[in-house]
Amino acid sequence: MVLYFSGTGNSKFAAEFIADEINDQCVSLNYVLKHNEPPEFASRKPFVICAPIHAGRFPAVVMKLLSKATFSGPRKVYFVATLSSKTCSVAASLKELAKNKHLEFGGLFFVTMPNNYVLGGNVPDHHEAEYQVKYVVVPRLLEVAYVIKNDDIMPEDNANPVVSAVSGSVNVMFNKFTVTSERFVVSDDCYVCGKCVEACPVNNIIIINGDPIFRKRCVNCYACINRCPRKAINIGKRTENVNRYVCLEYKEWKAKGIV
Ligand SMILES: Cc1cc2nc3c(=O)[nH]c(=O)nc-3n(C[C@H](O)[C@H](O)[C@H](O)COP(=O)(O)O)c2cc1C
Ligand code: SF4
Ligand code: SF4
Repeated sequence: MVLYFSGTGNSKFAAEFIADEINDQCVSLNYVLKHNEPPEFASRKPFVICAPIHAGRFPAVVMKLLSKATFSGPRKVYFVATLSSKTCSVAASLKELAKNKHLEFGGLFFVTMPNNYVLGGNVPDHHEAEYQVKYVVVPRLLEVAYVIKNDDIMPEDNANPVVSAVSGSVNVMFNKFTVTSERFVVSDDCYVCGKCVEACPVNNIIIINGDPIFRKRCVNCYACINRCPRKAINIGKRTENVNRYVCLEYKEWKAKGIV
């Protein structure tokens, strides 16, 4: 069973690609969260968990959900982290999670994908994203799927303990002070299409009197910002001139002949 959490579709694409290659089913953790479903997962094949890296770790909402989850079936778990840079020191937290769930840590794969972090600035346009998916992402996902399918040897994450500790503190600060929608503003370009409401995995957005209103449970997945067809959601003024990015659906990549 391939489980995924995804804000802008990268981790969903990775999950669906791998599921197709290893002939397994995909389950959306976004759906589980959004519909408040019990996190009970039963599989006949090893578990594969795909999620984005947010400030050096899997998002806190994902870790919390997985720590409450029950996993029945084979005891092996692989993790696939999609991210915009090359690597980060997330392995220790995932090994700990696997141990607590009585799962055998099969390995951690990094898949560098287009950046959705609009505050960072370097968000690709459609052409750059397509180039990256075709020439970087797809070849990497083929390698990942091969290792999982054949239960092959996984190279170890080689982050050193100092980097790991520092990035752990950065992540704690990030979750404490940055994970909020308090600074999100909606411009007059909004035409109340409801796509942000639909996209939010934690139901943090509601429409009141024709305006999208943000509640206090944002997990900073950036789905709403990137998926708004009018670029009407911004974080202050800093994101106004930055591209928006959403990964195409798996079937759309297939139709283009890229998968
Ligand atoms: C709030 C936030 C924090 C992020 N932090 C990192 C990071 O620390 N390192 C990194 O390489 N990419 C980071 N990114 C980029 C995403 O990990 C990357 O674009 C990912 O593939 C998005 O996956 P998704 O489309 O499944 O949500 C961050 C993105 C967001 C929205
Ligand atoms: S997605 Fe954009 S245009 Fe649609 S309701 Fe949300 S803010 Fe408005
Ligand atoms: S409000 Fe936007 S950024 Fe926050 S969790 Fe919902 S979709 Fe993600």
